[in-house]
Amino acid sequence: AKLYLVFRLCQLVKSAVLNVLFLLVIALSCHGCPDKCLCSSQTVKCQNQNLDAIPHSLPNNTKFLFVTGNSISRISAASFPARLDQLTDLYLSGNEVEYVDDMVFHNLPNLQKLDLSNNQILNFSKDAFPDDSKLQLLNLSRCFQNHSTADLVLNFLSRGNLPRLTNLDLSSNDLVILPDSILTNLSSLASLSLQNSSIISIHNGTLKAPPLQDLDLRDNSLRDLPLSMQAEFNLKPGLRIWLAGNPWRCDCFIDETLAWLRNSTQVVDLQNLTCADPEALRRHLLLQVEQSKLKCSSEMEGVLETSYVFLGLVLALIGVIFLLVLYLNRKGIKRWMYNIRDACRDHMEGYHYRYEINSDPRLANLSINSDV
Ligand SMILES: *[C@@H]1O[C@H](CO)[C@@H](O)[C@H](O)[C@H]1NC(C)=O
Ligand SMILES: *[C@@H]1O[C@H](CO)[C@@H](O)[C@H](O)[C@H]1NC(C)=O
Ligand SMILES: *[C@@H]1O[C@H](CO)[C@@H](O)[C@H](O)[C@H]1NC(C)=O
Ligand SMILES: *[C@@H]1O[C@H](CO)[C@@H](O)[C@H](O)[C@H]1NC(C)=O
Ligand SMILES: *[C@@H]1O[C@H](CO)[C@@H](O)[C@H](O)[C@H]1NC(C)=O
Ligand SMILES: *[C@@H]1O[C@H](CO)[C@@H](O)[C@H](O)[C@H]1NC(C)=O
Ligand SMILES: *[C@@H]1O[C@H](CO)[C@@H](O)[C@H](O)[C@H]1NC(C)=O
Ligand SMILES: *[C@@H]1O[C@H](CO)[C@@H](O)[C@H](O)[C@H]1NC(C)=O
Ligand SMILES: *[C@@H]1O[C@H](CO)[C@@H](O)[C@H](O)[C@H]1NC(C)=O
Repeated sequence: AKLYLVFRLCQLVKSAVLNVLFLLVIALSCHGCPDKCLCSSQTVKCQNQNLDAIPHSLPNNTKFLFVTGNSISRISAASFPARLDQLTDLYLSGNEVEYVDDMVFHNLPNLQKLDLSNNQILNFSKDAFPDDSKLQLLNLSRCFQNHSTADLVLNFLSRGNLPRLTNLDLSSNDLVILPDSILTNLSSLASLSLQNSSIISIHNGTLKAPPLQDLDLRDNSLRDLPLSMQAEFNLKPGLRIWLAGNPWRCDCFIDETLAWLRNSTQVVDLQNLTCADPEALRRHLLLQVEQSKLKCSSEMEGVLETSYVFLGLVLALIGVIFLLVLYLNRKGIKRWMYNIRDACRDHMEGYHYRYEINSDPRLANLSINSDV
């Protein structure tokens, strides 16, 4: 009986411990995971749930937060009402974010990585980040609808409250030209991607301030490197530049660019640059095109030649059409010619007749009268 009692006691203690553990687990999960989210250790994922706002009551120890593929159109200070001291990585890509308001990230004092790619941002507040922001990576790939909004959206970068930003992704944004002075206050920026952004040139002075190491300019609209760009690159001897996928114009205008490229140690994918035109050099490797083929005059001759050929073809076509019309109307023309011949004959006979009359002195008066 004593033994049995001890056994019962053990069982009781065991179930009690289990209950406490169970309650603890419940408490932990309640304390945390919002609806439609999955939480595991310090990671919270609320993906593809058609959410129109960032879920509230996130676990206060959240470190990585994914709210991707939803329908959030605005983020503001109300998006993060409670301080999340441990949050370092925030992924908001694939939403419909149009407005990033004042103080959005003020309750995320340790935010290091922010992914806003694949949104349609129209306005980004200069005061979105706190003054001592620890942000290191900012992804704004595919974020603007078009280049007319780029200035407005990117202006926040110049405010000077992102002193630790090292990595900025502005790819696939149809920028055409990087707005002046947006980089001047990014005092740690080391890596900048402008890939696939329709860049045609970079203004003198744009790259001067930040300590850039990597610059990705692949798949843009560069036809050559203007002197101002060469000067810009020369200021940063350690800079690594990617330039493949641009439509290089392989004629006499590329001379200076080519000289610079050959002498440069900065361009990483130098061997991969290809010509886009003239047609004869399309897809040829820029560095392997013979100097003698980089001519403009021959191109002009080519243009003249083709225009002469074209003119000849047009004239020939007109001739053929003319002959065709003649052939199709051959009966009408025959009839017409007969008519003319008959008319001529009548006329001539008339003359003949009149001549005979006029030559008859007896009828001279009559003829004069009839003429009047
Ligand atoms: C998280 O919240 C709990 C109460 O829910 C609190 O005891 C704890 O101190 C908080 N931790 C932090 C890091 O704020
Ligand atoms: C930015 O996001 C795009 C896709 O959303 C991704 O392909 C790219 O690698 C990201 N850039 C960085 C620097 O992480
Ligand atoms: C963008 O936001 C700023 C302040 O956040 C505001 O002053 C400005 O008028 C807004 N611009 C547009 C075009 O909405
Ligand atoms: C570009 O943005 C302007 C102003 O927001 C708008 O009027 C225009 O229609 C847009 N163009 C395209 C091609 O989206
Ligand atoms: C850079 O930041 C400083 C300090 O925040 C500010 O006074 C200055 O106007 C900024 N420069 C530009 C070009 O916006
Ligand atoms: C390049 O950018 C455009 C938007 O400007 C986008 O539609 C397209 O998918 C991008 N291409 C690649 C290969 O990323
Ligand atoms: C670029 O600007 C600086 C002054 O800001 C000037 O001295 C330099 O000549 C300019 N370079 C070119 C190629 O325009
Ligand atoms: C070639 O590059 C060196 C530095 O890398 C520079 O000093 C020199 O002037 C350049 N020569 C030409 C012809 O550009
Ligand atoms: C050059 O192009 C080839 C083939 O597309 C690619 O594998 C290689 O990585 C490129 N080289 C550089 C330096 O980007």
